[in-house]
Amino acid sequence: MNLILLGPPGAGKGTQAARLVEHHGMRQLSTGDMLRAAVAAQTPVGLKAKAVMDAGELVSDEIVSALIDDELAAMGPETGAIFDGYPRTGAQAEQLDAILARHRRKLDRVIELEVDEDELVRRIVGRFSCATCGAGYHDEFHQPKVSGVCDRCGGTEFKRRKDDNEETVRTRMAEYRVKTAPILPLYEARGLVARIDGMAPIDEVTAAIEDLLNA
Ligand code: AP5
Ligand code: MG
Repeated sequence: MNLILLGPPGAGKGTQAARLVEHHGMRQLSTGDMLRAAVAAQTPVGLKAKAVMDAGELVSDEIVSALIDDELAAMGPETGAIFDGYPRTGAQAEQLDAILARHRRKLDRVIELEVDEDELVRRIVGRFSCATCGAGYHDEFHQPKVSGVCDRCGGTEFKRRKDDNEETVRTRMAEYRVKTAPILPLYEARGLVARIDGMAPIDEVTAAIEDLLNA
């Protein structure tokens, strides 16, 4: 199974991808996570991407598609892929077609998480994650069960993303509207798109995705 999770910043792509990994042993391919790792490691890609990401703009198509290609090359053919935050432009969608063909994979589904923009700002500004294992949390919606202790690994250090401030979020949303949303009709024409209400509570969104995958 190969699926794309599409939706604006804060729609819940990363949250739902992590659950699919846990329940189905699929692999999450988040270009945002890969780029943040590259920035932290100060690789040549990271050095190029840093300022663009901090501004909330899109990194070049060639860079992100190369990251995806490399990840798929390192994966066994039986492991399903969840594309989280990729593709984000028409060019990336075309590049993904070529990459999937090269790795003898086919795209099964494109899931669009539909959400309300103002709510997204609230979600993003409240988001934090475990500095040790990356588990995601939220000030209002998803606190660790024991305050200050990660549910998954017991870590006690947490971090927030540098691009998670209101001004940058507005730019990221505009980038989504102008550059990413227009790729949906392409997948609609292939009959691949399913829309899910991303405003529902996290568990309900997960259940809706499971229903879709089991249908
Ligand atoms: P990226 O890391 O992909 O960020 P994004 O698309 O802006 O999306 P987010 O990760 O912010 O949101 P999400 O949908 O994963 O939401 P989450 O599950 O965390 O990209 C960052 C940057 O990298 C880009 O701006 C760009 O510069 C660059 N980049 C990345 N990919 C690129 C590409 N392909 N091309 C070019 N550039 C690229 O949820 C958010 C919060 O809400 C969490 O706290 C969560 O707990 C909470 N939450 C989730 N679901 C719910 C719910 N149903 N109800 C209540 N709370 C919820
Ligand atoms: Mg994410």
